[in-house]
Amino acid sequence: MQALDGIKILDFTHVQSGPTCTQLLAWLGADVIKVERPGVGDATRKQLVDVPGADSLYFTMLNHNKRSIELNSKHETGKEVLTRLIETCDVLVENFAPGALDRMGFGWERIQEINPRIIMASVKGFGPGEYEDCKVYENIAQCAGGAASTTGFVDGLPVVTGAQIGDSGTGLHLALGIVSALFQREKTGRGQKVLAAMQDGVVNLCRVKLRDQQRLAAGPLTEYSQFGEGIPFGEATPRAGNDSGGGQPGRILKCKGWETDPNAYTYFITQAAAWEKICDVIGAPEWKTDEGYATPPARLDKLNEVFERIEAWTMTKTKFEVMEICNPFDIPVGPILSMKEIAEDEGLRATGTIVEVEHPERGPYLSVGCPIKLSDSPVEVARSPLLGEHTVEILSEVLGYGGAELQGIVESGAVGTPRAADAAE
Ligand code: COA
Repeated sequence: MQALDGIKILDFTHVQSGPTCTQLLAWLGADVIKVERPGVGDATRKQLVDVPGADSLYFTMLNHNKRSIELNSKHETGKEVLTRLIETCDVLVENFAPGALDRMGFGWERIQEINPRIIMASVKGFGPGEYEDCKVYENIAQCAGGAASTTGFVDGLPVVTGAQIGDSGTGLHLALGIVSALFQREKTGRGQKVLAAMQDGVVNLCRVKLRDQQRLAAGPLTEYSQFGEGIPFGEATPRAGNDSGGGQPGRILKCKGWETDPNAYTYFITQAAAWEKICDVIGAPEWKTDEGYATPPARLDKLNEVFERIEAWTMTKTKFEVMEICNPFDIPVGPILSMKEIAEDEGLRATGTIVEVEHPERGPYLSVGCPIKLSDSPVEVARSPLLGEHTVEILSEVLGYGGAELQGIVESGAVGTPRAADAAE
């Protein structure tokens, strides 16, 4: 038994943002039916291909536990099938360019007419307003959501982050909107429209930077390194390098091997409560009582000196030794883990956060499993579907087509593909 057992999702998503959302819902137990254009499918199937002829990792890692139907939603017969799917499903999720569903003839009004209980959930680049018609990808959302202007170093360019906060972040927001709408439907019996705009999602994740924007009015941001360095603040929240986002100063520091290993670093937070222990560990006990160093406000204009001294110690240890030594003293530190280390991390594999999946076209590959663990809703990660792998199964088992009617649909060209035909045999 899983949390979303019995919920059917009509998955009209593609690329990353929408598919992350529906993948999560699938992991929570929903039956996710991915609708793909016949012969083409989700564009990511053929993007960044590493194994010729096989679905790319880009696609496989975003579409686990789903079923795939190839359906031309602009074909007359395809529209009939789509109407049946809308009647049958609890949620329609889409992340087409603005207006694409209307152009297909399936705007919100029509969808509600077909099924008043359905929840229609959309990812768009921007919310209503000046930019609502724009097509948007990850990095655009990071830039328009305030993340890029606040990431990087004060004397460098704006920087986009590796974490896909625009796509996967918005997918997460949308998933929460969907389950909330399902919960509300229990009481009202009605569906509703759910919108997660990528800009909004990124702004939400950059909340602390908007906090700092307002704090600037009251004077310089004293916990930012640039304060200690005497660099004046401008009108907007600056890029803060690796400064921690909270009130406890933190930096990335070199560890043993940094000269050759690009990830031999640790994050180190000089949390006030752990200060005395930090002084002991790094061999600077005099800082415990020296008035210039003993309190957080006294240290603010000396953070470079403080972190240089700590780094002189961390450079004598590996990033894992730093962790081992500091943890028992509740000194907050964390190794900079490379993707190679994450891929090989036994702990992450044991919890199912990193999983190995078998795929008929590409053999075994690694993926990120469900990052949300529910004690009563276990997740088993299943490989992504081949294009149209379940076309006939969905037409017959989910929609109840059979005999000549099913044959007619397959022959109409609205769904027909060699793979769909294979699956029918
Ligand atoms: N049958 C028939 N037509 C289909 C179809 C199907 N099963 N699935 C998609 N199509 C059509 C759409 O109706 C659309 O046709 P139209 O242009 O005539 O309306 C067309 O395929 C292309 O869809 P579109 O969404 O415009 O794809 P794109 O590749 O041009 O743009 C994005 C991609 C991501 C930029 C765009 O979809 C977008 O801005 N989405 C919202 C924001 C978002 O999610 N961005 C992040 C992506 S990770």
